[in-house]
Amino acid sequence: MNNENAPEKRFFHKSFEVRGNLPLSQKVQKNKWQEFFDGHAPIYMENIFTQNTVKEVDFILNEFNLTEGSSILDMGCGTGRHGIELAKRGYKVTGVDLSPGMLRQAKKRAGEEGVTVEWIQSDATLFTASKKFDAAICLCEGAFCLLGMSDDPIEHDMAILKNIYSALKPGAGFILTTLSGYRKVRRNTPEDVQKGIFDPITLTETITMDWDTPEGKKSVQLRERGYVPTELKLLFRQVGFDVDFIGGGTAGNWGRRPIELDEMEIMIIAKKPE
Ligand SMILES: C[S@@+](CC[C@H](N)C(=O)[O-])C[C@H]1O[C@@H](n2cnc3c(N)ncnc32)[C@H](O)[C@@H]1O
Repeated sequence: MNNENAPEKRFFHKSFEVRGNLPLSQKVQKNKWQEFFDGHAPIYMENIFTQNTVKEVDFILNEFNLTEGSSILDMGCGTGRHGIELAKRGYKVTGVDLSPGMLRQAKKRAGEEGVTVEWIQSDATLFTASKKFDAAICLCEGAFCLLGMSDDPIEHDMAILKNIYSALKPGAGFILTTLSGYRKVRRNTPEDVQKGIFDPITLTETITMDWDTPEGKKSVQLRERGYVPTELKLLFRQVGFDVDFIGGGTAGNWGRRPIELDEMEIMIIAKKPE
């Protein structure tokens, strides 16, 4: 068990600082992730975990086996790093994200790279596609597992999966990477449970992020959950996906490989049945 550095510093913190945790019982307005990512957007690409995009896209394309020009949905696309790389390789990409700040960065980067990507601002739990896609990605916690304080952890992620499923053509592939529940269990302590920082029923963790803005200090309370592979597989099956693979999926170490118990993320590769 390792709790030396709780709460976890997953994001680059030039102007951000994790201050501590508030009890889960303190409900705040849904969905503070948008506020967080709007503020974080200008420095998002400085996060270490964003540095492997080209290799990740190689992996995705190897898994999907698509013809050039195929359409790909990037759910929770952020600054568009995968979508832009896919567009550069000749695919038609639609990137969906909750945060206008992240999408602004995505548009700017796509312009600099000279590629066209369709960007849509939407909550993934409410997203309805106007067309069907040949494949989908939802990577590095792109909406999935990032909860509003009052969200039901199962319903939230189930809604995202259902919306992605509906947006896909029969036979379309889907790759998702999300936070590992094993890591959360191994790094949180009985005291964290007592303080309401970690909920062992839902495997959710609550953190507060502070950062400086020209208007003064901003602070948001955020909630995220981890998954064990059996539950993830069950959710996918319930929605209708055929699950092909579950394994380790931490950014920078992708491949069809087993899960390491202390790694950050797990990966699931699935398909909508023909
Ligand atoms: C850690 S970033 C991952 C971005 C990108 N997929 C990547 O790999 O770099 C998580 C993204 O999910 C978005 N997000 C969070 N909750 C969302 C929701 N409910 N609907 C859509 N996007 C959401 C955030 O705005 C943020 O851009």
